[in-house]
Amino acid sequence: MSRKSLISIRDFSKEEILHVLETAKEFEQNKVQNFLEGKVIASLFFEPSTRTRLSFETAINRLGAKVIGFSDATNTSQSKGETLKDTIKMVSNYVDMIVMRHPLEGSSRYASEVASVPVVNAGDGANQHPSQTLLDLYSILQTQGTLEGLTINMVGDLKYGRTTHSLLQAMSHFNPKFIFTAPDELKMPKEYKDFLDSRGIEYIETTSLNEHLNDCDILYMTRVQQERFTDLMEYERVKDVYTLNAGMLSDVRKNMKILHPLPRVTEISQDVDDTPYAYYFKQAENGLYVRMAIISYLLGYR
Ligand code: CP
Repeated sequence: MSRKSLISIRDFSKEEILHVLETAKEFEQNKVQNFLEGKVIASLFFEPSTRTRLSFETAINRLGAKVIGFSDATNTSQSKGETLKDTIKMVSNYVDMIVMRHPLEGSSRYASEVASVPVVNAGDGANQHPSQTLLDLYSILQTQGTLEGLTINMVGDLKYGRTTHSLLQAMSHFNPKFIFTAPDELKMPKEYKDFLDSRGIEYIETTSLNEHLNDCDILYMTRVQQERFTDLMEYERVKDVYTLNAGMLSDVRKNMKILHPLPRVTEISQDVDDTPYAYYFKQAENGLYVRMAIISYLLGYR
């Protein structure tokens, strides 16, 4: 059995990323397969989730395996003081793989070091969300026909947005250009801009949503995440900084698609949903096929 974990998107080479995307396409065409019958996978969510948890659990069921786990850690022995280390060591004796979301950055890497089975990071604080990145890449490829040479405009909370951090690193394999649209309080952190500089990848920064709306192939909208702010006054200042509406899309590129990891709050008006540019609900559906592919690959089946 494979022992590889997926903690950061940088754990996967370009070839592994492309392999998972190709396998996901096969799962989209044939959604029910039972080759993981007899396996058990733990779904440990220490932080709220709708899409990631439910699509992972559906993927596990569609592959013929069984799921154990929790979506509310207050019902576990963590509330009696059990450490993450003990929880993971114990759960890894029961299962063949662990899918884990946790609010602390670095928690998934730590879990993978103490677990005896592969661990998939389903989001660790503001750090990484690699399975989201793979479904983002799948959606970009599906809509653009290529991952090469695209311009991605990332909008909103680029400081705490783990999905933007993972996506930026993954896209670095494919000669992208980036536009970072964020208020000063939520700018892309320096470490990620240094990463792009070290690879000679172009990016520009703006605070205006209108300024580069018509210059991109992918508009990657994000939510301003209240749960990441320590200063709630700062959250109140920036929470409604951008709202995209259908009237703003009259001159965008015809191939442009709007992605959003979801959930959304006020950053995309509902009138955008009916435009040909909205792709976020299909993007969320793609999470199922991509997560089937991730599980199969990490367990050594595809
Ligand atoms: N995109 C995403 O991670 O959504 P959930 O928080 O609902 O899992």
